Amino acid sequence: MKNNGTSRRNYLKAITAGVSVAAAAGAGCGRSQDTAAEAAPKTSTQPPPDHDRRIQWWREAKFGMFIHWGLYSQLARQEWVMSLEDIPVTEYEKLAKTFRPKPNPARDWARLAKQTGMKYMVLTTKHHEGFCNFDSKLTDYCATKQGPRRDLVKEYVEAARAEGLRVGFYYSLMDWHHPDGMKAKDDSEARKRFVAYIHGQIRELMTNYGKIDILWYDVAVPLDAAGWESEKMNQMVLQLQPDIIVNNRNWLAGDFSTPEQTIEAAKGDWESCMTLNDSWGFTAADNNWKSPQRIVRNLVQCGQDGGNYLLNIGPMADGSIPDQSTRIMGAVGTWMQKNSSAVYGTQKSRVNFSNVAGFTRKGNTLYTHVHFWPGSKVTIGGIETKPKAAKLLASGKDVPFTHSGTQLTFTDLPAQAPDDPVTVIAAEFETEPIQRSLAVRVIDIINEIERKRNSSAT
Ligand code: GLC
Repeated sequence: MKNNGTSRRNYLKAITAGVSVAAAAGAGCGRSQDTAAEAAPKTSTQPPPDHDRRIQWWREAKFGMFIHWGLYSQLARQEWVMSLEDIPVTEYEKLAKTFRPKPNPARDWARLAKQTGMKYMVLTTKHHEGFCNFDSKLTDYCATKQGPRRDLVKEYVEAARAEGLRVGFYYSLMDWHHPDGMKAKDDSEARKRFVAYIHGQIRELMTNYGKIDILWYDVAVPLDAAGWESEKMNQMVLQLQPDIIVNNRNWLAGDFSTPEQTIEAAKGDWESCMTLNDSWGFTAADNNWKSPQRIVRNLVQCGQDGGNYLLNIGPMADGSIPDQSTRIMGAVGTWMQKNSSAVYGTQKSRVNFSNVAGFTRKGNTLYTHVHFWPGSKVTIGGIETKPKAAKLLASGKDVPFTHSGTQLTFTDLPAQAPDDPVTVIAAEFETEPIQRSLAVRVIDIINEIERKRNSSAT
């Protein structure tokens, strides 16, 4: 298996397909003999109750920081290293003793998130390796009883709150360390023990750290929704944290969906999670960093299509942030200082097409985010109505414009892009700005050619 997101997703799909085939056949899966699991209600395809109220802040926030940090950070070859290199559990466990982070690295993460213009954070409290960055009564394989000798999740929660950021917990359901973690699929007793452990840990996370804003499940392998008792899981979470939002990775719809490493508008609320290079967990040799412009463009594209952007850092074993991450996010933060009003609280835009720009919208204001600066004019086709006014967002300087037919042109602009890495022009309209679809515009062009041909023939 190649160590990248796509092949990993395929791999997970393949094993989970096995799960549902077994479940459908009612054979080979311990769950089928297990009345507790069988009694579980039908899988939710709708968000949990009170969804709009609970998710409102997140819809406005738009931008968050993902943090992948665990024992694997010591090996510096991503968070799947245990599985991909077939490291035996007994061997891998030794990393729990040598995990000795510096004091309070989460303060630096939270400061960086704040400076970058992010509004929330999501930390891996436990990744697939099974090591818990929090204090758990249910296992000794946790930060308080191993090398760190302190509760790393507590530090993180306090650091995020100190910067006024919302707090999210990532929690992997799949667990390579728990003795029942992989047996659970075919052994009903193992499933019961394992699911009690997982629900118990989620209860700890939802009880011991005050108000938590996001629960981000991951990789519901090897069970299905009934096997995980996912409905019960979400009900417990919402009972303990009535304002929380949960994602869709325990096989239920949750409050939002989670396209990974890609920006794909989905039905309902969604958040695209993405790495800054090609790795979630710290990978010393991965130099394939995205540019600040790529990050701003991605953030804009998420906003344009009505979603959020969750951007990852993979701190080193001691908790330090790789220099490149700090540099890239620093540049994004400088841009956000001037332009964040074109990000926060924006809604899906019905102006979507340009080769040089992306778009966001707030009410009747259209933000044109120009990434390839064309010089003194910026033209957008298919715009039905004329704006009332336009300005450069960063400087507030008025921008003259013309509107002819459906062609909107901002004029008298400087030859060089006034802002970096993307220049934003804010244009105010009487009503919601709308762009004719590309298909309609292509048909318009074909009709025009046809008309000309006919008139020259006569
Ligand atoms: C995948 C990976 C995991 C990563 C996650 C982030 O599920 O298995 O390593 O944490 O994506 O979305």
